[in-house]
Amino acid sequence: MPEDKDSALPTNIWSKVSALAARHRGQDPHRYFDDEHRFEQTSLELDGLFLDWSMQRLDSSTFQALCDLADECGVRERLRNQFAGAVVNTTEDRAALHTALRGTPTADPSLNQTFRDATDEICDFAEGVLTGDIKGSSGDDFTDVIHLGIGGSHLCQAFLSEVLQDTHLHVHFLSGLNANKRSQLLQKMNPSTTLVIVASKSFTTPETQKHFSAVKEWLSRHATEPQAWHNNLVIVTSNTEAASELQCKKFLVPLEIGGRYSVWSAMGLPVVLSAGTTRFRELLSGARAMDEHVAQARTANNAAMILALLSLWNSNGLGATSHVVMPYHPVLHRLVGHLQQLEMESLGKSHFNENPQSFAHTQPVVWGGPETDGQHAWHQMLHQGTHQYSADFIGLTDISDNDNRWMLSNCLSQQHLMFMGHEDRTHPYKSVQGGHGSTLILLNALDAYRLGKLIALYEHKTACLGYLWGVNAFDQWGVERGKQMATQTEYVLNSTLAGTGDPLFDKRLHKIAAHLKN
Ligand code: F6P
Repeated sequence: MPEDKDSALPTNIWSKVSALAARHRGQDPHRYFDDEHRFEQTSLELDGLFLDWSMQRLDSSTFQALCDLADECGVRERLRNQFAGAVVNTTEDRAALHTALRGTPTADPSLNQTFRDATDEICDFAEGVLTGDIKGSSGDDFTDVIHLGIGGSHLCQAFLSEVLQDTHLHVHFLSGLNANKRSQLLQKMNPSTTLVIVASKSFTTPETQKHFSAVKEWLSRHATEPQAWHNNLVIVTSNTEAASELQCKKFLVPLEIGGRYSVWSAMGLPVVLSAGTTRFRELLSGARAMDEHVAQARTANNAAMILALLSLWNSNGLGATSHVVMPYHPVLHRLVGHLQQLEMESLGKSHFNENPQSFAHTQPVVWGGPETDGQHAWHQMLHQGTHQYSADFIGLTDISDNDNRWMLSNCLSQQHLMFMGHEDRTHPYKSVQGGHGSTLILLNALDAYRLGKLIALYEHKTACLGYLWGVNAFDQWGVERGKQMATQTEYVLNSTLAGTGDPLFDKRLHKIAAHLKN
């Protein structure tokens, strides 16, 4: 495997960005359009995925300076090294191989074959379930799927299962703990025709394990014979040892596949079951096409590099403290949840691999939600609030449908107003300041191929930002610590543990316990 030589981040990366930004902060947005070539210089068409950054606060010379900065950091080379299988997750001494799952080759031909075989195994199993060749414990065809998982074992899967739904199977997702929701679901399900998927890389995540305990009891209680219910169970994990006593179908997720990057692996099984194997392979194909683009295109024409540089520019240069994602189609309502984990769990870091950047801000808050609902909830703040932010507007080019035309009309007008502003000299309280940069992403169809491109685009944007900021985009030690503390705290609250070992925390728990009802 090629070694990922950490290219030395130029120590002046932040002073450069800050110096570049100085003359843009107060710039009248209208002035950017004095350049008659602006529109053609700020857009990119990628076979049905159109990117436009004309509504961003930077001119062509600044854009080129940012591209030069990325090249100086060797970002594209590091991304290609990552694709090839270099150890880029340095704290866990692992590669990040999610691109190999969709056929983008690593430097190891045998590994590439292993990943191809794994995809075939997942699709063959799903095909068997869908055709009825694979049946439940009672010999009946499956009608429903209950999927247990959380975070990277849930978010993108739930998003894509809904958008790409095309088979007779109904996939029901249980993620965070909600016993009422779970029992209401189980009451409606037929245990004989329900396939239960337990998706957990660690196979220790408390929420998923608690769901599994209850669902396992439900399955076994209704089973015609003691162990027959194992035909209704599939385990998707990296920790097959922890699931060793379960005699059921198991899929292995390699440790080199990060949870938030895992929908292309067996973690994508609910997507294959709800969308079908053809659409799932189209999803992989779209992601692979984006991999090829990102690996080959020079920085100024590289969609992922552009999104990463615009994020760096808005947060480190122009002081944006949040990034809002506004998908203008109702079925995209779960996209934001996935992007929140992808970007904030990957880049919400303050440990730098090299050249500690004492004044750098890394990942801003990612938020947003389905439009036009958001316009009736939080757009007022975006138009007349005081905080700096950046945004992605995601829309569809097909406006043959009245609803889509209304959606795109809102998408384009809201974006224009947030950047260009509006002055009302008679009623100043009606003025909109403007100046908030955003990128427009238009898809010519909500099909598997373009959604695969879109998700891969955001994965590569995330990786590029990790290489620019000098942080590891593939570990998550902060949230792991939080999970450990929560498990200890639960033992203290149910009195099976005297204390957490942290005297101050124990003192606090003791005080709060006085208000609790067990
Ligand atoms: O949020 C922490 C985390 O470990 C994520 O990285 C992961 O996607 C999620 O919890 C679920 O973990 P697992 O797949 O091990 O259940």
